[in-house]
Amino acid sequence: MQIGIDKLSFATTPFYLDLVELARARDVDPNKYLIGIGQEKQAVVPPTQDAVTLGAAAALKLMTPALKERISTVLVATESGVDNSKATAVYIKRLLGLSRFTRVVELKEACYAATAGVMMAKGLVATDPQSVVLVIGTDIARYGLNTPGEVTQGAGAVAMTITANPRLLSLDQVSVTASDDLMDFWRPLYSEDAMVDGKYSTQVYIDFFLQTFERYQEMTGRQWADFDALLFHLPFTKMGKKALEALLGDHDDPDSQRLRAALTASQQYCRQVGNLYTGSLYLSLLSYLQNGQARPGQRLGLFSYGSGAEGEFYSGVLQPNFENQLNDVAADLATRQQLSVAEYEKSFNGQLGLADTDVSFDTSKDPSPFWLTGQGGHQRQYQVNQ
Ligand code: COA
Repeated sequence: MQIGIDKLSFATTPFYLDLVELARARDVDPNKYLIGIGQEKQAVVPPTQDAVTLGAAAALKLMTPALKERISTVLVATESGVDNSKATAVYIKRLLGLSRFTRVVELKEACYAATAGVMMAKGLVATDPQSVVLVIGTDIARYGLNTPGEVTQGAGAVAMTITANPRLLSLDQVSVTASDDLMDFWRPLYSEDAMVDGKYSTQVYIDFFLQTFERYQEMTGRQWADFDALLFHLPFTKMGKKALEALLGDHDDPDSQRLRAALTASQQYCRQVGNLYTGSLYLSLLSYLQNGQARPGQRLGLFSYGSGAEGEFYSGVLQPNFENQLNDVAADLATRQQLSVAEYEKSFNGQLGLADTDVSFDTSKDPSPFWLTGQGGHQRQYQVNQ
């Protein structure tokens, strides 16, 4: 039985910051951001959005009345969770109006966890081929104003359904996972902003990619030339380039040229949104499918990485008419509104964060389908925008 991704969708916030403006405000050469880091725009998060509302918005884009009836489990991967006990998935299930008889749980291992969700979903579908598992990766990447990581912030969510006989990407049997206890990026319980040893995390990421891919090659006999595209977790687009070049080296033949062109296509959406943490690899997949030379029958390699650290390399085969299983990301991005640096900073500082007081947010300027309207009695308040 084939198991894999049946539908894939993406949602982000309605606002963005132009990184040339941020570079000027931070007295940095804009080319450092545009070329050196490889980012053009960054999603800006209004106080009315969080991991719950973004995750629900992504899932809404793939939902139909019939699908709602069939979802057995919701797995939400996030490192921007809103509660130390209650799962983000519980809120999302309610906002989507899913059945009471649904299993809901939250998964965490930095940016890797959505891939854990895909693999766990694969197992659940193998035991019950009728079931549909909804996997969501939803995050707000925050490093802080005036930090080296600021340019690599972003926000958004992906949602996927994992089913038998998938219409988008059928997963191959072999996947390779590696993990190590190390401190390249983390967020202590008392902090809303991530701590990162950026250069170290870049090196660890590349090591995990090369090691998991080498083992995958040994186990399958497939080489890089056997892939139509290699897709990467992209905390910033330059990261994918560094990893791919570490593999390809000086090669400049048709196979390596194809992989480089596929990488460029897979980076397009990340350049416009920034880091999604858990959802980032799957936004790369969406970007390749909508901007690259994607064709049914192609074999795609996916490298997932989460700091701390865990990496997984796995692969799948594109299915006929896969293009019908996606939302139109370019059209959605075109509706976003640009904010000034001052407005971005106000939004950044206006997040609920770790506040323990009652608060009410103005939702009138946020056209998103779901809102965080505030906090009362230590409980987050959510509302559907109707
Ligand atoms: N024009 C073009 N490129 C320029 C430039 C300019 N004017 N100025 C600098 N650059 C290049 C540098 O050469 C460098 O390229 P390289 O990485 O290929 O060597 C790149 O821009 C970044 O410059 P650098 O000085 O290294 O930036 P930095 O000290 O501000 O740190 C990061 C960059 C990415 C390490 C930092 O933003 C960060 O920590 N981000 C978070 C990392 C992360 O997400 N980690 C998790 C991984 S999963």
